[in-house]
Amino acid sequence: MIVFVIGSGAREHAICRLINKSELCDSLICIPGNYGISKIANCISLNTSEEILIYCKKNKPDLVIIGPEKYLAEGLADDLRKKNIPVFGPGKLGAQLETSKDFMKTFCKKYDIATAYSETFDNIDDSITFINSRPGKIVVKYDGLAEGKGVFVCKNSEEAKDACKKIFINQIFSNNNKIIIEEYIEGKELSYFVLLDDKSYQTFSSAQDYKRIGAGDTGPNTGGMGTISPAPILNESLEKKIIDNIVNKSIHGIQEELLEFKGVLFLGIMVDELTGEPKLMEYNTRFGDPEIQSISMRLKSDFLSAAHSVATNNLAYSEIKFSDIKKSICLILATKGYPDDYPKDTIINNLEEFDQEEDLFIFHAATYYEEGLVKTNGGRVLSIVASGDNYINCRNKVYEIAEKINWKEKYYRPDIGLLL
Ligand code: AMP
Ligand code: GLY
Repeated sequence: MIVFVIGSGAREHAICRLINKSELCDSLICIPGNYGISKIANCISLNTSEEILIYCKKNKPDLVIIGPEKYLAEGLADDLRKKNIPVFGPGKLGAQLETSKDFMKTFCKKYDIATAYSETFDNIDDSITFINSRPGKIVVKYDGLAEGKGVFVCKNSEEAKDACKKIFINQIFSNNNKIIIEEYIEGKELSYFVLLDDKSYQTFSSAQDYKRIGAGDTGPNTGGMGTISPAPILNESLEKKIIDNIVNKSIHGIQEELLEFKGVLFLGIMVDELTGEPKLMEYNTRFGDPEIQSISMRLKSDFLSAAHSVATNNLAYSEIKFSDIKKSICLILATKGYPDDYPKDTIINNLEEFDQEEDLFIFHAATYYEEGLVKTNGGRVLSIVASGDNYINCRNKVYEIAEKINWKEKYYRPDIGLLL
């Protein structure tokens, strides 16, 4: 098969590694890819949906896997399908589950999916009246895509009003002036994955993401500073509740609304500390980054076969298997300063020293190669992932590598893999 993977992050590096391992793969192209990915795939430097569509029409891949939500929101999957190109990733309609919080909340209400209570507002006055009626902790969410910055978990009404002002008055996102205000839920989070096509679904394991920048879960939220897979809090009874109260109802809703979802549904779940019940915090309509980096290291079956079966509505016949015993841990190396300002074009000196092994892999996100040097051009730069039969060994391995990497500007959390 000729396979195209769209995207340039460590998530796409993890996907490319799985595809590259498959005997079904004859040729792998990543658009645009990055320096790390270029070692296992041909990287083609195109960025817009329009350019990618033209390239795909000309080269007729057997499968396109779309990594980032941006392209899904723009309808790239729809455009490719119109040209009879099999795609892993939902069209614009399905992507709304991620791109609009209001759409997601309305969908949850309609299909009785367990989620936090919320109301939607399109102006500041009504938002403030609602906030005044519910003192204490509360969550304000911008309706659209905001690169992880659209959620304000507020300690009190003042903070919540301030968040509303930022959105409605200062218009920090865009002029789509819609928000949802949601009850605050205290609990532990996990990321749960499901592959689906129009006819069936299969679960695709879980992970726990360490979202904040600092040790002990302190400081601002980031895109994710590490993951541990499978999610340690997931046991049989919790998984049954997730399937019964969230997954099955979501799939039913997707079919009823004719969303024609072929891809991966990523459920961001909070397990309510008071009741033990799982509640859906968000849908994402693509793989999580850094979740897939750790999950992918535990997959035993052929990913390309599964992804192609999703794209061609044959998922029911695909066998997806994860190792029963393997755990894995992903540690993110970021540029010091992230998620605020950080330097670019810094040099990582000794990356070539580390061999990629079956149980140890360094995925690249923001690296490029210039004049014999590996340089950085982003915040989250490397994902070091180790897998093994227990979390402690994985933790020791990723931290051993992190220490050895000779990069003056590196930053990483010291507590990935320690249970929160
Ligand atoms: P979301 O993008 O909706 O998943 O929100 C980003 C993060 O904000 C989540 O991972 C949670 O840590 C936090 N969060 C979102 N909604 C709530 C809520 N209702 N209660 C408590 N924390 C929340
Ligand atoms: N790790 C969270 C995300 O990919 O959105």
